[in-house]
Amino acid sequence: MRLRSEEILAAENRDLNKLLASLGPLVELAAAGAAEPSHPAPPQERKKQMAITATRTVRELAVELPGATRIFEKLGIDYCCGGGKSLQDACSAARLTVDDVIRSLELSESARLAAAPERDWTTAPLNEITAHIVNKHHAYVRQEIPRIQALLAKVGAAHGQNHPEMAKIQGSFEDLGNELTPHMFKEENVLFPYIDSMQAAVERGQPVPPPFFGTVRNPVQMMMTEHDGAGEKLKQMRELSSGYSVPADGCTTYASLYRALGEFEQDLHQHIHLENNILFPRAVELEKRN
Ligand SMILES: [Fe+2]
Ligand SMILES: [Fe+2]
Repeated sequence: MRLRSEEILAAENRDLNKLLASLGPLVELAAAGAAEPSHPAPPQERKKQMAITATRTVRELAVELPGATRIFEKLGIDYCCGGGKSLQDACSAARLTVDDVIRSLELSESARLAAAPERDWTTAPLNEITAHIVNKHHAYVRQEIPRIQALLAKVGAAHGQNHPEMAKIQGSFEDLGNELTPHMFKEENVLFPYIDSMQAAVERGQPVPPPFFGTVRNPVQMMMTEHDGAGEKLKQMRELSSGYSVPADGCTTYASLYRALGEFEQDLHQHIHLENNILFPRAVELEKRN
């Protein structure tokens, strides 16, 4: 029994080491900075770093620490629709040692502070967030859907016989695309323009205009429900593909397809996180205050 625990611990350490190695120069920079800080972080930033504890929710950490989503993604910790769990619970579920995960979050945050600052979406004007989502994430989804569909058709035709899961992955991706297209249309034509108009009114010192849908909470709730549906499709595809591991008889196109699906998943997680955890709560709050 003891041996089994040690094996698990050793496996976890190997995973963490792999993660730290993949963060590469950033972590080295952070380690160097920790030994001899040449640019000490301002007090509010240091306070932010000290708040990385096992009892914080994954969602809170993902919002506060811009580098956290990349680490959660690599470790398989759900920060998007399942972000309400404490870091402790999320680590237990993923069989990871919470102290090691906290350490990698701290290293990543130190590295970020030492490097050029990223855009802080928790304080940016809301119209800049909606523009960023549309220009970066919606454009990416629109570009990738037909490309991945073509790859799925090609791999399905060549390997479908030996890999019946490919037809199911194709079906899930088809459903996901059919949901995301009208979802983004509603965001771009109803919700985001209203959020932009709230931001503009507040900047002009005017009251927020009343929306035809009653309150911003209504479309926000609808979008979040649709996000849960998208999250489910991503989970299904990850399970069907055994975590996007290319089988021994898989060709280069197979590998390209799984890489594309893995990247699509990562982008959609970040996209939904930005909406669910940052944009939507801030829009609801802005409406309440005005
Ligand atoms: Fe979106
Ligand atoms: Fe969305």
